[in-house]
Amino acid sequence: MNVADSELITTLLIEQGFVAARDIDSAKIIIFNTCSVRQHAEDRVLGRISNEAKRKKSDPSIKIGVVGCMAQRIGEELIDRYKAIDFAVGVDQYDKLADILKAEVRLADTELNSQELYPHLTPMHQGKTNGFVTIMRGCNNFCSYCIVPYTRGRERSRKAEDIFADVVSAGKQGLKDITLLGQNVNSYLSDGISFPGLLQNLNEIEEIYRLRFITSHPKDLSDELISAIQGLDKVCEHIHLPMQSGSNRILHEMNRNYTFEHYRNQVQKLRNAIPDIAITTDIIAGFPTETDAEFRQTLSAVKDIGFDYAFCFKYSIRSGTKAADITDDLNEATRLGRLQELIDLQREITLCKFKAQIGKETEIYIEGRSKKNALQMSGSTRDFKIAVVDGDESQIGKLVLAKVIDATAGTLICEPLC
Ligand code: 5AD
Ligand code: SF4
Repeated sequence: MNVADSELITTLLIEQGFVAARDIDSAKIIIFNTCSVRQHAEDRVLGRISNEAKRKKSDPSIKIGVVGCMAQRIGEELIDRYKAIDFAVGVDQYDKLADILKAEVRLADTELNSQELYPHLTPMHQGKTNGFVTIMRGCNNFCSYCIVPYTRGRERSRKAEDIFADVVSAGKQGLKDITLLGQNVNSYLSDGISFPGLLQNLNEIEEIYRLRFITSHPKDLSDELISAIQGLDKVCEHIHLPMQSGSNRILHEMNRNYTFEHYRNQVQKLRNAIPDIAITTDIIAGFPTETDAEFRQTLSAVKDIGFDYAFCFKYSIRSGTKAADITDDLNEATRLGRLQELIDLQREITLCKFKAQIGKETEIYIEGRSKKNALQMSGSTRDFKIAVVDGDESQIGKLVLAKVIDATAGTLICEPLC
C-alpha cells in the first residue's frame, strides 16, 4: 500500500511542478513514506532520517518530511522531537503536500478524513512492468493487534469507474500484471458493485494480462469470489489469505472472527474449485498470552494447510490497540524462538511446493534481467512464484511459456518452450 501511496504522492507533486530527483543524495526534498504496523519499521525510518539529518546540517535548504502511518500516528511528536523533520503529513492530507512544501513552516497535519479517496488522481508508474492499483482505503476490522484502523481510518471503496480507468492507464504504461489493493478486498462495495463484480469488469481490460488482489480476510471470502478466480481468465491462481494463528483461542483474542476450522474449510473450497491455486498467508508468532501448546497448534496448522509461502512476524506491541492492554507474559526470547521455528518450518514447506513444480509447464511474465545470471531473465508465474529462464531483454513485459527444470525455496528455474 505504501508503494501505491508513494506513486500517488509522486504524481501529485509532479503535477504541481516538482521534479523527481535521480537519487536520495541529489534530492532537495526527501519524503519518507512510513509504516507503523510493527515497531521495527518505525525504528528503521528513524535511522534513515537521522542519516539524512547529517546531510541537512551541511545544506540547511534540504527539507525532510514524513508521510504515511507513522506521520499519522505520531506526526506532532516527530516535529517536536526531531528538529531535522520539516513536515509530517498524514494519510488523508496528501492534497495539501505541495502547498506545505512551498510554505516555509514546520508543521504536522494529521487530520483523518473518513471520505478521502484521491479520486482525481491517476498515478504514474514509471518504468515498471507490474504494480498496484488501490481499490479501497482504511479498515473496519480492528484486529486487536493492529494499528491500521487507527492510522488509516474507516474503510471506503473507490468508484469502479475510477479503478477501471486506473487499471487501463497502468496497462498503457506497460504494467500488464496488476495487483488490486485493499486491507480487506472482500468487503469492496461501491454503487452496488461487489468485489467479484469489480473483477468481472476489470477482466475485460485488453491492456493487461493478469489481475491479482491483496488482502482477503478469511471471514469474508465468498463463494462468488472463488467462482471469479476460477472463471475469469486474467485473475491469477493465487490468494493471500492471512491466517495469523492456528489456535482458536488466540484467533478470538485477535478479534479475527473465524476459527481455524472455518479457515481450513475455506482453503478446501478454494482448492476444490482451483486445484493449482497458490495460497500464501501472514502469521504472527508470540501474540500476548500465547502458550507453547497454542503455538504448536499454529505449527501444525501450517503443516496441515501447506502454504506456498508465509510472511511470518513476531508480535509487536502497538500502543492504542486492544492487544496492548493484555497483560503480556511472553518475553522477547520466547517470541524470537517461536518466530524462527515458524520460519524454518515454512521454508521446508515452500521448498517442497517449489520442487513439486519441476516438470510442469508455466507461464512467466518477464520483468527484468536475473540478478544472478546475466543470460537469464526473471519474472513471475501466475501463481506468485519468481521464475528465471534463458532469454533476452526484448522479452521484458511479455509472457513466455516455459518448463520448470529445477527449483530452490524462492525461485523456479525454467527452460523456454516457445
Ligand atoms: N505485530 C506483528 N505483526 C503484525 N501485523 C499486523 N500488526 C502486527 C503487530 N502488531 C501483521 C499481520 C498482518 C500483516 C500485514 O502484518 O500478520 O496480516
Ligand atoms: Fe489490520 Fe485486521 Fe484491518 Fe488487516 S484486517 S489491516 S490485520 S485490522
